[in-house]
Amino acid sequence: MRASSPDFDSNFFKSALGRFPTGVTVITASLPGQPPVGLTVSSFNSVSLDPPLVVWSLSRNSSSLAVIQQCDRYVIQVLASDQMMFAQRFSKGTAAERFEGAALTTAPNGSPRLQAGCSAWFECANRSRYEEGDHFIFIGEVEHCARNDSLPLIYHAGGYDLTPSPTDTKR
Ligand SMILES: Cc1cc2nc3c(=O)[nH]c(=O)nc-3n(C[C@H](O)[C@H](O)[C@H](O)COP(=O)(O)O)c2cc1C
Repeated sequence: MRASSPDFDSNFFKSALGRFPTGVTVITASLPGQPPVGLTVSSFNSVSLDPPLVVWSLSRNSSSLAVIQQCDRYVIQVLASDQMMFAQRFSKGTAAERFEGAALTTAPNGSPRLQAGCSAWFECANRSRYEEGDHFIFIGEVEHCARNDSLPLIYHAGGYDLTPSPTDTKR
């Protein structure tokens, strides 16, 4: 299957998408009796207030895909401005390395969640999944959430702030 047309510049597309600043989340989940998986995700957004629904997308290449597809629920944690190290740690390495030294607790319906105080967290029932292009789109139904007043971590143009990146100035 071809991922893009021959005259379509994926790198330029990616850099254009990077002009849209987002927050950064870490999504954690586990299957019964198995160690947790977790990964950094910026494709999170709101969908509906009633019922309370959120959306995010996961690459087909994700090593967490099988667990995320099968789990009943997961936790989406919105990182605070001082939690860049979580964003970096959960976007590389093995699952074991990502959770090393990261204290875990349990959300009310049993999903693993980071104990560290994130800006917000949402425990979601794994309501639906849609295959689109090279990603799967997940719709989560929020069962519990919490927040504090910390400033959020921002991701923009490939960096964790709002300053122009070197590649941006060339475009
Ligand atoms: C800031 C940031 C945002 C990301 N957002 C997403 C995303 O929305 N969806 C996704 O599939 N990967 C995203 N990634 C990439 C994954 O975190 C990365 O590929 C990770 O290694 C996937 O782990 P896994 O293979 O265990 O799923 C993002 C990475 C970073 C640094």
